[in-house]
Amino acid sequence: MPQRNVVILAAGKGTRMKSARAKIMHEIMGKPMIAYVIERAKELDPAKIIVVIGHEKETVEAYLRESGVTIVVQEEQKGTAHALLAAAPHLDDGDVLVLYGDVPLITMETLIEFSKAFEAADGIAFMTTEVDDPTGYGRMILEGNAVLHIVEDADANEIQKKIRVINTGICMLRHDMLELARAVTPNNAKGEYYLTDICHIARQRRHWVLAHHHADAEEVLGINTRRDLLKANVTMRHKILDRLMEDGVSILDRDTYVDDTVRIGRDTIIYPHSFISGKTIIGEGVLVGPYVVIKDSVLADGVFIEGFSSLDGVTAEADVKIGPFSRLRPFTHLHAGVKIGNFVEVKNSVLDENTKANHLAYIGDATVGRDVNIGAGTITCNYDGKKKHRTTIGDGVFVGSNTELVAPVTIGSDAVIGAGSTITHDVPDGALAITRAKQKHIEGYSRRKK
Ligand code: UD1
Ligand code: CA
Repeated sequence: MPQRNVVILAAGKGTRMKSARAKIMHEIMGKPMIAYVIERAKELDPAKIIVVIGHEKETVEAYLRESGVTIVVQEEQKGTAHALLAAAPHLDDGDVLVLYGDVPLITMETLIEFSKAFEAADGIAFMTTEVDDPTGYGRMILEGNAVLHIVEDADANEIQKKIRVINTGICMLRHDMLELARAVTPNNAKGEYYLTDICHIARQRRHWVLAHHHADAEEVLGINTRRDLLKANVTMRHKILDRLMEDGVSILDRDTYVDDTVRIGRDTIIYPHSFISGKTIIGEGVLVGPYVVIKDSVLADGVFIEGFSSLDGVTAEADVKIGPFSRLRPFTHLHAGVKIGNFVEVKNSVLDENTKANHLAYIGDATVGRDVNIGAGTITCNYDGKKKHRTTIGDGVFVGSNTELVAPVTIGSDAVIGAGSTITHDVPDGALAITRAKQKHIEGYSRRKK
């Protein structure tokens, strides 16, 4: 088999997105759409992957730098034929598979099937599909499975507009057929060099162009508008949920959002309306939800996260229990068996094994030992208006309810803080610290008031 190269066209502005960002950087389930196309291209193991970029090229290039692809800049975006020609000098001999950066749901299986079909072609093949609403797409003028012409949406007449067999954009060319792209002229409604025009140029030169039909139109959706982006997100979301279920994760409702970047272990159960994103890794036998938001967090086996909790940048070790209604912010590290209950906020803090903060507390910039009990209403006063300070709490400490710990402050191991105290000085190991005023009684008070 001749070696194969992949060219991904991704230089366009994406005017119809009405965005300051390049279209191909818009995200689908947590990743820029271009990332999916590059992943599929890599699965084919081609000799070279060239990505043609242009619009917002600094941002796009910075994103692609680590991905190992060859980046080519198309300075002016004059159309898809022009974009392919920008890549041409970097292509040695071998077939060229052209993918579009805005057709991200394509699968490897489909591309393999297409390249097989290409072997029977006369050096050029286009992948087609049939859609209910062909608005925006190039319409296929076919004779059997030979392409006579592709008419772009902007150039189509009323009769052509009704054609529902469309160009997916994905095409394959034998290396010598790249020449045809040089013959393309911009005589059309958009004044662009259309790659699709190589079809009739090929015919003039007595070649025939294969139309390879693909049945699943959803997979070859081209993203031009925010509505297309929504459709792609929905399709990808369902695909991800299917993959998770296949891997042994229980999903109770399809209204569950798990980014493509997330990893989840078997026997984990995700309750409805949970939103899991970023670099999150969830272990086995974890319960999440309903209505839980998790971002960039690592949760060990057996962690339990009840409803309406929010986790961002959290590490939770085995059997940690969180929620309902907990808010855990970046650099929170909870060791095994820790319990964080309702209306507890934790930030930039380490809580050692089996420590509990069951209700209504703020733990910020703290190092907390093991087997500590943090009573309801405890606040680490970590901010003096200018700087943040740390609170250190030793093992086995009991912090009574409604306590303020004014940082920097250290509470020694096994100390007890009486409820309602404001602690401004370090407390020795094993001591009782109490700062509240003595209770006094004024007898007969309410009778006199009457
Ligand atoms: C294109 C096809 C159309 C097909 C549709 C499928 C052409 C002329 N038309 O139309 O037949 O039905 O895709 O989704 O090819 N690009 C560049 N440089 C440019 C212009 C575009 O790199 O100068 C890139 C874009 O970033 C995009 C892709 O090429 O990833 C397609 O461009 P776009 O303008 O979206 O083409 P469509 O009008 O959708
Ligand atoms: Ca497009």
